[in-house]
Amino acid sequence: MKVIITGDHAGMTLRNEVKNVLEELGFEYEDTGADCKSSVDYPDYALPAAKRVASGEFDRGIFICGTGIGMSISANKVDGIRCALTHDVYTAKATRQHNNSNILAMGERVIGPGLAHEIVKTWLTTEYEGGRHERRVEKMMQAEKK
Ligand code: RB5
Repeated sequence: MKVIITGDHAGMTLRNEVKNVLEELGFEYEDTGADCKSSVDYPDYALPAAKRVASGEFDRGIFICGTGIGMSISANKVDGIRCALTHDVYTAKATRQHNNSNILAMGERVIGPGLAHEIVKTWLTTEYEGGRHERRVEKMMQAEKK
């Protein structure tokens, strides 16, 4: 599993927790996030990283900003992306099983590192169920083509 991590200045600390999980699971990753505390614009980080997931260069992405909202809205503008903004373990699991989400967004100003750790671990290790969900996911993806 190859994972791209990115984030703006407001997501730096939580991004380090994400790296802990990836190292624990032995997954390969690249961090393209902002590396300083000066203010940057989240679309400048989310859009290029989302395109690298959509192209197949990475299997998944984990995007962090202050709320996770800017990152998730930006990522979902890219064809082929299903980005889930998630701040609890239940929806982290469900969005993999039902939506086959390929990017996870979280907000550093919303949750702490302990919960983020559990969310990331759950999201990375839960399989897509397919079956009845295929049709629904396909309908979402077709909407991008119109
Ligand atoms: C930055 O202040 C903040 O707006 C950004 O990190 C994010 O929360 C936007 O959605």
